Amino acid sequence: MTRFLVTGVSGLLGLNFAMAVDGKKHQVTGVANTTPLTWAGFKCLQAELTEQGVIEKLVEEEKPDVILHCAAIANMEACEANPELAAEVNSVLPGRIAAVAHKHDVQMIQISTDAVFDGAKGNYIEADAPNPLSVYARTKWEGENAVLEVNPQALVTRVNFYGWSVSGTRSLAEFFVNALSQGKNVKGFTDVIFCPMMVLDLADMLVEAAHKNLQGLYHLVGAQPMSKYDFGMAIARTFGFDTGLIAAASVMDGGLTAARSPNLSLDTGKIVKALGHELPDFERGLDKFFAQYRHGFPQYIRALE
Ligand SMILES: NC(=O)c1ccc[n+]([C@@H]2O[C@H](COP(=O)([O-])OP(=O)(O)OC[C@H]3O[C@@H](n4cnc5c(N)ncnc54)[C@H](OP(=O)(O)O)[C@@H]3O)[C@@H](O)[C@H]2O)c1
Repeated sequence: MTRFLVTGVSGLLGLNFAMAVDGKKHQVTGVANTTPLTWAGFKCLQAELTEQGVIEKLVEEEKPDVILHCAAIANMEACEANPELAAEVNSVLPGRIAAVAHKHDVQMIQISTDAVFDGAKGNYIEADAPNPLSVYARTKWEGENAVLEVNPQALVTRVNFYGWSVSGTRSLAEFFVNALSQGKNVKGFTDVIFCPMMVLDLADMLVEAAHKNLQGLYHLVGAQPMSKYDFGMAIARTFGFDTGLIAAASVMDGGLTAARSPNLSLDTGKIVKALGHELPDFERGLDKFFAQYRHGFPQYIRALE
């Protein structure tokens, strides 16, 4: 049994990880901040992680084998609006957690992002130099560096994922489902490429990576690059929504404040080799997302708050 301490447990990744992993072979203690989770089924604490001494206390009391650090200011527009807070949470905090993990000989997994790249080239490998375009991307890259500087045994994964969230609005997949299920027209960007992974598949891969004690920097995104338009169309087809509601559009017409990188396809060869198998298939991940929808999972987790 592995004991995971999961920060950001009220977030999209943290909650799905905790619900999927706790109680089977492993134990999860989650840490939320401003979003209390009432009956999540796993142990859930509340803490402002930037407060002095909080991380040390959590590690001493919970005695985890692995810290999965998901907490972040992950909303790109919120980072543009408050760059100081983004720097404190995304750049400084990961390094402080990494130092405590190192001191207590606890394995640390830092969740980073594909967005560290400018997207000019695509198919990025871990050795490619990042060139962040937004406050979010820059602060997340600084967070990666802060972690590996004080704790080279830590694992830093650059991810991109989708799933169901407490707010019902956190992922792009939810955006498409929410709009299309109500017959609303939406734009799908044809000029933004990414590699989405279903969050439950990501949870499985993170558990495997922890058990293999992977260290250093790895790209851990979906196996299939696609445009945001293609992603929306795949969701519409799987859910039986009208594909005609999705209009092909350019990100330039999206009215977004934070700059988006056009091609965020990442090469996953390094992690495939380390895990010893291919990464989960996109269509199967989407089927899992749809199966959760049919079983009322979105309503179930919205009621947790
Ligand atoms: N979503 C994506 O597609 C995506 C893509 C690439 C990388 N990532 C990365 O994946 C990770 C998880 O993202 P997500 O989408 O799950 O994030 P999310 O849904 O926005 O959740 C963020 C979490 O961080 C917590 N948090 C923020 N500031 C905190 C603080 N000062 N102290 C304690 N907790 C704090 C929040 O707690 P409260 O809500 O309780 O305050 C929440 O649980 C992040 O590192 C993000 O950068 C996400």
